[in-house]
Amino acid sequence: MSKPFYITTPIYYVNGAPHLGHAYTSTAADVLARFKRLDGYDVFFLTGTDEHGQKVESAARAAGVDPQHFTDRVSADFQDMAARMNISNDDFIRTTEPRHKRSCQAIWQRLVDAGAIYLGAYEGWYAVRDEAFYDADETSLKPDGSRVAIASGAAVEWVVEPSYFFKLSAFQDQLLAYYEANPNFIAPSAKRNEILSFVKGGLNDLSVSRTSFSWGIPVPGDDAHVMYVWLDALMNYLTACGYPDEGAARLKYWPADVHLVGKEIIRFHAVYWPAFLMAAGLPLPKKIFSHGWWTVEGEKMSKSLGNFIDVRPLVDEFGVDAVRFFLLREVPFGGDGDFSRQSLISRLNVELANDLGNLAQRTLSFIAKNAGGMVPVRGDLHEADHALLATAAALTGKLREALDRLAFHEALEDVWKLIRNANAYIDHQAPWALKKTDTARMNTVLRVLLEAIRTVGILLQPYMPGSMAALLDQMGVAADARQIAALETPMVEGAALPAPFGIFPRYIEKAA
Ligand code: MSP
Repeated sequence: MSKPFYITTPIYYVNGAPHLGHAYTSTAADVLARFKRLDGYDVFFLTGTDEHGQKVESAARAAGVDPQHFTDRVSADFQDMAARMNISNDDFIRTTEPRHKRSCQAIWQRLVDAGAIYLGAYEGWYAVRDEAFYDADETSLKPDGSRVAIASGAAVEWVVEPSYFFKLSAFQDQLLAYYEANPNFIAPSAKRNEILSFVKGGLNDLSVSRTSFSWGIPVPGDDAHVMYVWLDALMNYLTACGYPDEGAARLKYWPADVHLVGKEIIRFHAVYWPAFLMAAGLPLPKKIFSHGWWTVEGEKMSKSLGNFIDVRPLVDEFGVDAVRFFLLREVPFGGDGDFSRQSLISRLNVELANDLGNLAQRTLSFIAKNAGGMVPVRGDLHEADHALLATAAALTGKLREALDRLAFHEALEDVWKLIRNANAYIDHQAPWALKKTDTARMNTVLRVLLEAIRTVGILLQPYMPGSMAALLDQMGVAADARQIAALETPMVEGAALPAPFGIFPRYIEKAA
């Protein structure tokens, strides 16, 4: 039986349309999900939409639509974005679904039974944009007299209302002990340090219900309250596993292997979520990985600048795989980055069209013209052949290791080292010269190249599924021989190859 592997994206707020930032988180999660499937794991990959709370309610009001219709519409748009980005999620959860209401009410009851929830009154700062409570020292006064959260810049308002509280303060020691015992629980390490010092600084009890609006899941037994949207939202990860049904088939996936999140929501995932689970006596996720933020042409994406980038027009113009590749190649995962059209074009032209596209194209069309259009028969190997094959053979292990650390960019660098080596090898071995002098040697060189390209094609499938399928088709690699394990088996000598075609055309900017 294959090993379960559970990966999630955050569920996206439906107060606005999907943009580059959402596409980024989903693409990264998708690459890992696809890689693990390819490597024989039983993967459950979850994404979805976060549909309750004050922010969504007021966006619906501003649009003049009732919240349910509004969220139906925006959630559908997020599902469309996922489809256009070729995201291979196994489920798409919406927090307005009945299964989720049931699951949230069940965990609430469990927290009450555990003595972790009590009724009080909240008086303090709240930022609707972040759906977060802030201490006074986490806010600052602006020259115009308004107050904002320092971390996010979101406007805060003073809230006074009856509220249920979760005894977060009681979990400080248990959380610190957990971080200590599980040094890889929060990554990258800068984020781990940030969370450690936040928790060491002492934890206040957390307000977990609201009474000043109604767009949320009612608190069991007290309809005047709806659950705090973050408690509701975090529970999605368990709802999708069938919680609270004890016999649910998907419970085998819990605890999650990775919750992928943006850096601004690490506290909710690395502090509140584990504390809720500890209180409920449930196992904790294995890793929370926080990635950075994209700016666009040097500017922060914001409503006031109106510069939110929708990835779909980029997909139309450059192809989905070029966009997916760019997102994971351009920025070391975990750090911040800048999106620019120019850098996308340059990655597409240099790395995809030149490095990879040319390698495949010149090898395959040479074979079609000069080697009978079939997998060439290999003779004795020279040192250079061994070297290239050894680099190819070592690649799987490197990728496994890099992707376990969510170092998507490093994995690509490793693949590109092989591609560059293969390009140098072809130049050096010059099969076009061997054609006249030594066809047996020419065949060996072509065969070594094919093996290297097959390795690239198989291992890059998670990043660029469509283009790599097209490449593997041209190499006669059967659909059931594209798993990572299939790399152990050599290609079938003499098998006929279909006519080759280019996979990554160069992008030529049209004159304005
Ligand atoms: N609904 C919450 C998450 C609840 S999870 C239990 C939420 N939603 S969100 O729509 O605001 O953001 C979701 C994700 O989109 C974040 O993880 C964030 O990283 C990503 N991005 C939003 N803007 C981004 C950029 N500009 N750059 C990169 N990713 C960013 O938070």
